[in-house]
Amino acid sequence: MPTHTIPVIAIDGPTASGKGTVAHRVADKLGFHYLDSGALYRLTALMALRRGTDLADEHALAKLAEHLPCSFTGSSVILSHENVTDAIRAEEVGNTASKIATFPAVRHALTGLQLGFRKAPGLVADGRDMGSVIFPHAPLKVFLTASVDARADRRYKQLIDKGISANMEDLLMDLRARDERDTNRAIAPLIPAEGAHVLDTSSMTADQAVEEVLKWYAAVIK
Ligand code: CDP
Repeated sequence: MPTHTIPVIAIDGPTASGKGTVAHRVADKLGFHYLDSGALYRLTALMALRRGTDLADEHALAKLAEHLPCSFTGSSVILSHENVTDAIRAEEVGNTASKIATFPAVRHALTGLQLGFRKAPGLVADGRDMGSVIFPHAPLKVFLTASVDARADRRYKQLIDKGISANMEDLLMDLRARDERDTNRAIAPLIPAEGAHVLDTSSMTADQAVEEVLKWYAAVIK
């Protein structure tokens, strides 16, 4: 199957919109591969934090991104043989990821790696710019969103479930700051791609959102 004919479902949206869960389940249902592009930004951030790389040094950060020694096995994320699945989920890593993601050289360095996930029989790609930049010809593009309150609520529950203490006020502030950075950056800003289906999941369960995406996909391949 030539690469450009392998179907891609691009699912973009703001932080804590539930796109990770929805994208994962859609990939499972269709037997497709799954790309968590945010994990690549988080891995770069984790390496930078551990190495003490200057977080304003675009060139040095791009170099880290370009030679990211990472692999994905099942739901585990591996960095140089170390399982960093939980480590990359830390709030500090997410915040750093969102900062370094504003650098064009970092985004450019991660492009090839992301394109490499497009393998038969298909790919569900989750991120901020999957439909707008990385896979602009994806047959189905979805922009998943939810109100700030609904998203803060979900993030709060996620953290508490993991046994991590959380403060609602801090979470709301953090979400707003991240939305602001992701939406207003000059390169690959977080906006619905052309032709994207917008799905507001504020009052939907993840399964309802999955059903909706699968319905759209069934219509696309008809
Ligand atoms: O969990 P959350 O949705 O907050 O973040 P994520 O999807 O794991 O991504 C972490 C950060 O990487 C985001 O805040 C974005 O700034 C950045 N990112 C990006 O710029 N482009 C992508 N395709 C994916 C993530």
